[in-house]
Amino acid sequence: MALIGMKPERCPAQRCGKRHTRSTNVQNSDLRLSPLIRKVIRAVCIASPGTLTHLEGKTFRMRIVALVTQKGGSGKSTIASSLAVAAAETGERVFIIDMDPQQSLVRWFKTRNEADLPVEAIGAPKLKTALATLEKSGISLVIIDTPGTDSPATDAAMRSADLCVIPARPNAFDLWASETTRKSLKALNKPFVFLLNQCPPSQQSARIEEGAKALEAMGGLITPMITQRVDYQEAARHGLGVTELAPNGYAADEMRKLWLSLKRRLAKQKTEKASGRKAA
Ligand SMILES: Nc1ncnc2c1ncn2[C@@H]1O[C@H](COP(=O)(O)OP(=O)(O)OP(=O)(O)O)[C@@H](O)[C@H]1O
Ligand SMILES: [Mg+2]
Repeated sequence: MALIGMKPERCPAQRCGKRHTRSTNVQNSDLRLSPLIRKVIRAVCIASPGTLTHLEGKTFRMRIVALVTQKGGSGKSTIASSLAVAAAETGERVFIIDMDPQQSLVRWFKTRNEADLPVEAIGAPKLKTALATLEKSGISLVIIDTPGTDSPATDAAMRSADLCVIPARPNAFDLWASETTRKSLKALNKPFVFLLNQCPPSQQSARIEEGAKALEAMGGLITPMITQRVDYQEAARHGLGVTELAPNGYAADEMRKLWLSLKRRLAKQKTEKASGRKAA
């Protein structure tokens, strides 16, 4: 991103405190008026202070992960928040988009009381424009939370995502709902993975094995399975991720592993896409 030699301005990020020249891509009026842009700049600067100038000459490939399933209560918002924190801790510049009218993650962000992981409620009509702005601004990872129903928001998120994660509890209703979501994603030709969530602590139970087999048969179960743990509920209540609430806990370990699995999966997709393009 080329920077123009204008008078440096104080960065709007509370903890950055630096003065930056403005990017040619970020218009004056954007910096002054758009809350989205201000949130992006905060995220970028807090993730790595001075990044606005570091963006110069670099090309970014922003990745978009959407949590989708037509089943309410399967853990989309819970996983989205803790995953966002775990990814940010590895140096990703993360932005969360909350497309659920319940606005669970907007509330989570308000409870968090920190500007480091911005959350914006965005409806289907504005999603594309918002994603384009985020990509230009140097965000490396967008996590989208969606409603637990078939809706225009879910459809828009599915269409925009590089990878959709379908969380499912190991019970028949969630597995049936996963099948419906899978069909929608197949029709859109979108990559997806299933994630077993809220598994009982003794993971060897027949119910878990059956759930895992069913999801594998439908295509791609990502590891690890996520266990039902109080840490997930407590972290959400305090506006935290599990890796912040109890960094040495089992839930924190699961979330770090989950982010690594998803990161690998995203990288694999990118390589396959690139080699497919070369072969074509
Ligand atoms: N791994 C977990 N361990 C313990 N509790 C969990 C876990 N995952 C989710 N929960 C709890 O399950 C409930 C539903 O989770 P959540 O709100 O994240 O689901 P959702 O898919 O976002 O629901 P909706 O579709 O209504 O938005 C919450 O009370 C949450 O705390
Ligand atoms: Mg939710």
